[in-house]
Amino acid sequence: MRLLVTGGAGYVGSHMVKALLRAGHSVLTLDDFSTGRRPELPGEILVRGSIADAPLLDAIFGEAPFDAVLHFAARSIVSESTRDPAAYWASNVGGTLVLLEAMRRRGVLRLVFSSSAAVYGDCGARPIPEDALRRPVNAYGKTKLAVEHALEDWETAYGVRSVRLRYFNAAGADEEGELCERHQPETHLIPLALQAAAGERGPLPLYGEDYPTQDGTCVRDYVHVSDLCDAHLLALARLQSGQSGAAYNLGNSRGYSVREVLHGVESVTGMRVPVRKGGRRPGDPAVLVADSARARRQLGWRPRHEALGAMIESAWRAMAGHVTPRASAVLSPH
Ligand SMILES: NC(=O)c1ccc[n+]([C@@H]2O[C@H](COP(=O)([O-])OP(=O)(O)OC[C@H]3O[C@@H](n4cnc5c(N)ncnc54)[C@H](O)[C@@H]3O)[C@@H](O)[C@H]2O)c1
Repeated sequence: MRLLVTGGAGYVGSHMVKALLRAGHSVLTLDDFSTGRRPELPGEILVRGSIADAPLLDAIFGEAPFDAVLHFAARSIVSESTRDPAAYWASNVGGTLVLLEAMRRRGVLRLVFSSSAAVYGDCGARPIPEDALRRPVNAYGKTKLAVEHALEDWETAYGVRSVRLRYFNAAGADEEGELCERHQPETHLIPLALQAAAGERGPLPLYGEDYPTQDGTCVRDYVHVSDLCDAHLLALARLQSGQSGAAYNLGNSRGYSVREVLHGVESVTGMRVPVRKGGRRPGDPAVLVADSARARRQLGWRPRHEALGAMIESAWRAMAGHVTPRASAVLSPH
């Protein structure tokens, strides 16, 4: 297939580009490098630019026929979305509408969308099935839900079929350790804990220890980034075979508390994670665990890296290859 990958210089998107090239597909990446970290992508497969640039999209789609779009590009920092919702609505919703219209104009009628568990907010279901109430509690989740609604309408009215993949907490890195999770700023627990253990940053803030969970800290469902890539390949196959669009949760249906993740990081690295106690953050549900039975049943998705320790290990290995020489002395994986 010939595929356009938006946000292919980011954490999940760069893993996807690697998986697609490995599977023999032809790929073009569109990324504005607002948060992307992979400028070393070969020039012939990289276009620097925004999904909100209609003339650029027309030029891309006009050059050669595309079979589908994999749409990762988005702003995705929850706290920032609360502070500056306008930027999130403009980029995540406005930008996506420009992309969808360009696809429609050029007859590109298949899309796989990176949605999020954030569309559910604190819906109370444990685990969360796809038909649970979607009531996001922050602007980031609201923009993801708005795009999901738009995609449903674009499918009904214009025949743009889409698979909406609701990731829970993406984690880990590719087997070779070539790619690495390094958001700027980083807000995800595993890389933060690894960096704190390695002395790359100060103590890790622990946001609340009085939740109704086994040890009082929040529980989340971690899913390996390579398993997310597998799900995208299966979603593409679903669209390619002519089936209708659909939404799927992607998680391992097993929750780990913040404390359990910190223990996992300590046992993988052999180093202590320094923590500092902070209060609860508003809008943090106690438990978010996916019911992913639909993805397993309908897509045939079988996560291959379910163990938390393996996810942390792969993240640690990749991190060791992506630090300054001074820090790498501390960071050699074992
Ligand atoms: N990482 C997770 O745990 C997680 C969980 C749920 C959903 N998601 C979703 O998955 C997708 C990828 O997440 P990630 O963690 O890889 O984020 P990321 O920030 O590493 O990657 C996003 C990429 O999109 C690019 N981008 C942003 N706005 C753009 C625009 N307007 N035009 C072109 N490029 C643009 C950025 O430069 C970056 O390379 C996002 O849509 C995110 O909301 C991620």
